[in-house]
Amino acid sequence: MNNGKRRILVTSALPYANGDIHLGHLLEAVQTDIYVRYHRLRGDDVLYVCADDTHGTPIEISALRQGITPEELIDKARKSHVSDYAVYDISFDIYYTTNSEENRHYAEQIYESLRRNGLVTEKEIDQYYCEHDKRFLPDRFIVGTCPRCGAQKQYGDVCEVCGATYEPTDIVDPACGICGQAPQLRSSAHIYVQLSKRQEFLREFINRPGVLQPDMRNFVGTWIEEGLKEWCISRDGPYFGFKIPDTENKFFYVWMDAPIGYLSSTARYCAERGLDVMDYWKKGGPSEVVHFIGKDIVYFHALFWPVMLDSAGFAVPASLRVHGFLNVEGEKMSKSRGTFILAREYAEKVSHPQAAEFLRFYYGSKLSPNSTDLDFSRDEIMTRVNTALINNIGNLHNRSTVFCERYFDGRVPQAAWDASIAALVEAAAADIAAHYESGDFKLVTERIQTLGSVGNKYFQDTKPWESVKKGDMEAAAVVIVTCVNLIKALMVFLKPITPKMCAAFEKQTGAELTWEDYKFSLSGQKISQVDKLALPLEAEHLQGLF
Ligand code: 2FM
Ligand code: ZN
Repeated sequence: MNNGKRRILVTSALPYANGDIHLGHLLEAVQTDIYVRYHRLRGDDVLYVCADDTHGTPIEISALRQGITPEELIDKARKSHVSDYAVYDISFDIYYTTNSEENRHYAEQIYESLRRNGLVTEKEIDQYYCEHDKRFLPDRFIVGTCPRCGAQKQYGDVCEVCGATYEPTDIVDPACGICGQAPQLRSSAHIYVQLSKRQEFLREFINRPGVLQPDMRNFVGTWIEEGLKEWCISRDGPYFGFKIPDTENKFFYVWMDAPIGYLSSTARYCAERGLDVMDYWKKGGPSEVVHFIGKDIVYFHALFWPVMLDSAGFAVPASLRVHGFLNVEGEKMSKSRGTFILAREYAEKVSHPQAAEFLRFYYGSKLSPNSTDLDFSRDEIMTRVNTALINNIGNLHNRSTVFCERYFDGRVPQAAWDASIAALVEAAAADIAAHYESGDFKLVTERIQTLGSVGNKYFQDTKPWESVKKGDMEAAAVVIVTCVNLIKALMVFLKPITPKMCAAFEKQTGAELTWEDYKFSLSGQKISQVDKLALPLEAEHLQGLF
């Protein structure tokens, strides 16, 4: 704690450098960004850290195929990821890379402490090796026939036709995914972390309040109780990654150094500003580490990662916020159906100046603190955006600010605002704050809309246009100051979700809004040129999307 303010380190999962940012990545980034912006708005010391996840065989092979070095590939990817996220106003404090000296340093430090704590063992295992490519083949680089259903061209770990999971050695007629030749089995020594030795710690960790949503806690609890498997953290070279100290040709597995990217990116951020990284990562320190992740990577974050952090004396996560997958029109995103939509394509194809902000709002209106899958639907985004931002909030904003312009000389009238509406705003603020904190952005947007409807009804019922006609400017003044103040409160509450729209309102009223500003009155404030906050989202805007 620092002046009653919280210190929070927030992360989104690190995207792989061998792919583009798509609507699924954006869902998580928007979710994280809303949480971060909410805490910034409250004046908390919040640091939003992300990076590209850059190591492993796929990146190396991809670079090879493109005729560039892995370093060139990851550099290009990082630039493109940074610019894709910027379109959606994702407000990272740092977007770094796992291929950094800081990351190497922490990977070695954590490995050393795992060893010191007696958690590391070695054993020889047989793996497929391609004589032609002179390398051991990861599961995804072995192709063959599914041992269960006989489907051809399946990967070495899972059959996409029947869903069977198996060992690469079970696959029938295995071939190297790079050159197509039959691989040979070869033995090699590997390094393992004995997670089962930390069973007690993990059991206690996942049961700490706030660490996991209840459904996830049960899920992870089952893994712990069923017995934790040892975790292989080494890969044979050639491998694009960090060499393991005191080995001939072994490298840290990409999943070992990926989460360490959270720590090393914080270190980089702090070093550039003369800050102490341990202010964020000290065990028992004042900072809370909050990771936003998808449900497919819970195992890594709830089991491996805390063991790594704890053994090296770093803070373990205070909270793992796990979201579900994103579907499009009720189905898994699919390249063949054209629904595998990249962030860049979405912004280009949706021909509306507020396309990115509307997607933020739409995602916000759907996100709850659970891991159920979410669906992107063209009809639904139109309905949600138009109902909330155009017909409700936009309408209230427009009718009340036009009134200021027309009848009050471009100012918010001088009058006290309606006490009962002020009380409703006060009550809503507490609810909305609680929903932001719990990650229930769906309820945040619902509460905001309820308040907007109250404002519109109040305007309708009090008929300020009739007061003006009768020359009762005082009565009209009360209504208008109340509605403008209500809009301002709604702008405060929406600011984490739709920052651009709120910035336009701030410009219009000359007020830079922080959380507590839902309270004060704009009475007497000059209002500059009245523009609509949002323009309707129509079917034609979304037509070219897929
Ligand atoms: O699943 C993924 O896309 C990984 N690149 C996420 C890594 S998150 C963290 F551990 F680095
Ligand atoms: Zn090969």
